Amino acid sequence: MRIADYIRDIQDFPKEGVGFKDITPLLNDHAAMMEATKQLLALVGDKKVDRVVGMESRGYFFATLLAEKLGAGFVPVRKPGKLPFDTISQEYSLEYGTDILEMHVDAIKPGEKVLIHDDVLATGGTAEAVCKLVERLGGEIVQVNFLMELSFLHGRDKLAQYEVKSLMSY
Ligand code: PRP
Ligand code: MG
Repeated sequence: MRIADYIRDIQDFPKEGVGFKDITPLLNDHAAMMEATKQLLALVGDKKVDRVVGMESRGYFFATLLAEKLGAGFVPVRKPGKLPFDTISQEYSLEYGTDILEMHVDAIKPGEKVLIHDDVLATGGTAEAVCKLVERLGGEIVQVNFLMELSFLHGRDKLAQYEVKSLMSY
């Protein structure tokens, strides 16, 4: 089974000129979703993982599945104003302007081994901000993994100090 066969290309979404990688066919199919989870776990190997951090929204699907399989806790990173308890915030750059991501202050304890997962690595701004949040709480990032990376955007350059893995590269 090829995971790439379950990724649908949508042209001009969410705006003109953008090619969107739609992962819903992968989520819709149980066998494909389990195969992708298995392959992501293989990227992690035998590393010890205490927490899996996933970013809103599309990072959540596989981050929670990975947490379950790894026997780790799950930590949601959210867009501003969504988390109810005390948070730390991290600003990051977008194509135009900036945005903010937040995490609960007690989500990670110093020294915990953290796996970060998201669906797509594009410019790397999102993942870089999440790495900073994790490190500000004292977490040790063991890997940052993705279903896919858009390698022409060079997001890896922002994550040079971490182990970065992805199942597919475009
Ligand atoms: C998309 C994607 C990644 C991020 C990658 O999320 O799911 O999280 O962009 O982009 P970057 O590497 O350039 O930062 P988006 O912000 O569109 O939100 P969503 O997951 O809620 O759809
Ligand atoms: Mg996202």
